[in-house]
Amino acid sequence: MSDPTEGGRPVGEGAEATIRQVDWWGFPAYLKSREPKKYRPKALDERLRRERTRNEARLLVEARRLGVRTPMIYDLDLDRCRLILEQLPGPTLKELIGDAGQPPSAVPEAMQRLGEALGRLHAGHIAHGDLTSSNVLLPDGPAGPAAFLDLSMGSRNAGVEELGIDLHLVEEDVKALSAQAPSLLRGFYAGYLLGNPAGAKDVRARAKAIRGRVRYA
Ligand SMILES: Nc1ncnc2c1ncn2[C@@H]1O[C@H](COP(=O)(O)OP(=O)(O)O)[C@@H](O)[C@H]1O
Ligand SMILES: [Mg+2]
Repeated sequence: MSDPTEGGRPVGEGAEATIRQVDWWGFPAYLKSREPKKYRPKALDERLRRERTRNEARLLVEARRLGVRTPMIYDLDLDRCRLILEQLPGPTLKELIGDAGQPPSAVPEAMQRLGEALGRLHAGHIAHGDLTSSNVLLPDGPAGPAAFLDLSMGSRNAGVEELGIDLHLVEEDVKALSAQAPSLLRGFYAGYLLGNPAGAKDVRARAKAIRGRVRYA
């Protein structure tokens, strides 16, 4: 059989990684690779790419242990800074918000599901670190559990500041994408409270403080 890491359809070229859709021994998969960056000194570049790949793999697994959906890891190659991930179906939250053909309940449901999943992640002391609506998938549709992608900037043992930044980013993103932001965020926070009952108050308070700081910076 041919090497599943060769070929494949290019899906995206992010700032940091190249994504290709590949076939992993019959399973639809995404190959995410961090290519060398010429503008960085070689030793630093290798360390950064390796560490982000390792961090992403570790957090994908730990999130799963907390009951939060993430793609399964089919393969990890730290020398080439590559991950092969299960391809999850479903729209990203961003696509869902931009899709005018959805029933009116879809986005509010998805926002609540996002809140619940993020709450669980936070209750397990994991911060996502790059929480935009492109990094959230709804693999079972808007009424099913939300899944997270792209955890390479996340942290374990996250403090309230890092958790607050996650909430702040969700707020900014939703405000930029939807005119219904206030009611969507109420649903999001209702879900968040379910996922993180013990920590919700403190993390929300910190998000509010961060918003104030950003506004007056
Ligand atoms: N495992 C996956 N299943 C489904 N879609 C994915 C998967 N991984 C990535 N994608 C899609 O590719 C996009 C970019 O992937 P991501 O891991 O966020 O890389 P980047 O670091 O470039 O943002 C996502 O927004 C999503 O649409
Ligand atoms: Mg991304």
